[in-house]
Amino acid sequence: MRFARSLNTRLVLSHLAVSLVSIALMAGFAGRFIFQAAIGETEHNLQGLAFAAGNALELPLQELSGGTTDKQHIQDMLSRMFADTPDMQFTVYQPDGFPLVDSSNNLPIRANRANAPEVIEALESELGRGVNIRPDSRGEQMMHVAALIQREIEVTGILRLSIPLAPTQQAARQSFFLLMAVTLLIVSGVSLVGWVLANNLARPIQILTQAARNMESGDLSVRVKPSGPQELQLLAEAFNSMANRLQSNLSQLRAFVANASHELRTPLTVVKLRAEALREGALEEPEVATRFLSEIETEIDRLVRMVNDLLDLSRMEAGMDSGKRTLLNLGAIAHEVYETFGIRATRAEVELTLDLEPGLPPVLGNEGQLRRVFYNLVENAIKYTPCKGQVEMLLRSGPNPNTVRLLVRDSGPGIAPEHLPHVFERFYRAEITQPRPGVVRGSGLGLAIAKSIVESHGGEIGVSSQVGNGTTIWADLPSVS
Ligand SMILES: Nc1ncnc2c1ncn2[C@@H]1O[C@H](COP(=O)(O)OP(=O)(O)OP(=O)(O)O)[C@@H](O)[C@H]1O
Ligand SMILES: [Mg+2]
Repeated sequence: MRFARSLNTRLVLSHLAVSLVSIALMAGFAGRFIFQAAIGETEHNLQGLAFAAGNALELPLQELSGGTTDKQHIQDMLSRMFADTPDMQFTVYQPDGFPLVDSSNNLPIRANRANAPEVIEALESELGRGVNIRPDSRGEQMMHVAALIQREIEVTGILRLSIPLAPTQQAARQSFFLLMAVTLLIVSGVSLVGWVLANNLARPIQILTQAARNMESGDLSVRVKPSGPQELQLLAEAFNSMANRLQSNLSQLRAFVANASHELRTPLTVVKLRAEALREGALEEPEVATRFLSEIETEIDRLVRMVNDLLDLSRMEAGMDSGKRTLLNLGAIAHEVYETFGIRATRAEVELTLDLEPGLPPVLGNEGQLRRVFYNLVENAIKYTPCKGQVEMLLRSGPNPNTVRLLVRDSGPGIAPEHLPHVFERFYRAEITQPRPGVVRGSGLGLAIAKSIVESHGGEIGVSSQVGNGTTIWADLPSVS
């Protein structure tokens, strides 16, 4: 039953079924048509012969009635006429139905409706002819055609020609069988085409099914070669891109877990080492103990910050933290962040400036999250820019209509081109860029969080930087006009 359920079998069977039904219908109609046409043609030929022979008999019959010739002469004349067709039988009747001459030499009885209906029909019909098909005494089907013999309008006799139908039927049967043989050949061809088509359809589906099974059992590297009809090729392409996506997501996930464990391990190791040192005697030296405790505190702060960042990131990426959105004036937020970083910038000897384009439209967003974008960008800029450097915060109308662009530009060391495409990845830190002395290294989540926030607001974030020439990070947010 499973076999019959396969696409392949179904398609071949349906092709076969359609072909067989067509053949059956054709056999019915064509068979009938061929037999009727053959009999019609025989009848037509026989009629032609009967009328031609009837015309030829017109004079001899007149002579017979005048007594200048005899029946034998008429019989010989007809026998000569049909010498080429030995199956042909003929009978000449008088207008009153009595037979005159017969090819068998045995005269039949007087024609009546029962024994020679064609003769009566010829006498009665306007066309002067009659046809009848009936079995003879041996049961063989015979065709009888009768034609009037006339002299002007006077009927002088009736000629009846009879031939067996078996040769005609045999010829028709042969044509019919030939037709059926050709049809069967066509059906075989159609079935073969059906089989090829079915294979063409079923094969890619089988390959896809196998690929999906392999993927289910953990092999994400499996890909399929698009083949078959266009729809299946599209399906194969969709399958491949799904597999690519899954594979890349999985490898990102693995990298993320590895990075996260690594980042968590470092501060935990420091905490453990300092705690051990305290237990093993450092507690006796208050100065060392205080230093160790403050290191433990710093590492724990780092840990708490990292775990919070990670939590926020995963909540945002899962779309759970879209927060309350209101119409916001980005200028006011930029101003607040500018004030917040004022003291830090002064302490770092970095000149922090704020430049707002007047009359910018508001943005629909979550205030806390957008403040965090500003915060992370400005924090990086101050952190990586050496003393006497500059950091600018700018708000402009964006390059696309209905967007507001925020830029944080610094005069810091810049980011090397090989690192640029990765700075928005989680845990990514360009090793060359070291924060200024005295600043603790971050964990590489700040820009990933900023990107996640900007994108969840329907915006875009990007970076341009040249080593030695500073860095500019921009974020375009859709505005409400
Ligand atoms: N203004 C900048 N100048 C130079 N390098 C930068 C600048 N901003 C970011 N980077 C580089 O990009 C990396 C990623 O920045 P990101 O803010 O994501 O992480 P972080 O600052 O190292 O850590 P965190 O922000 O989590 O405290 C940084 O480590 C740094 O190498
Ligand atoms: Mg940062």
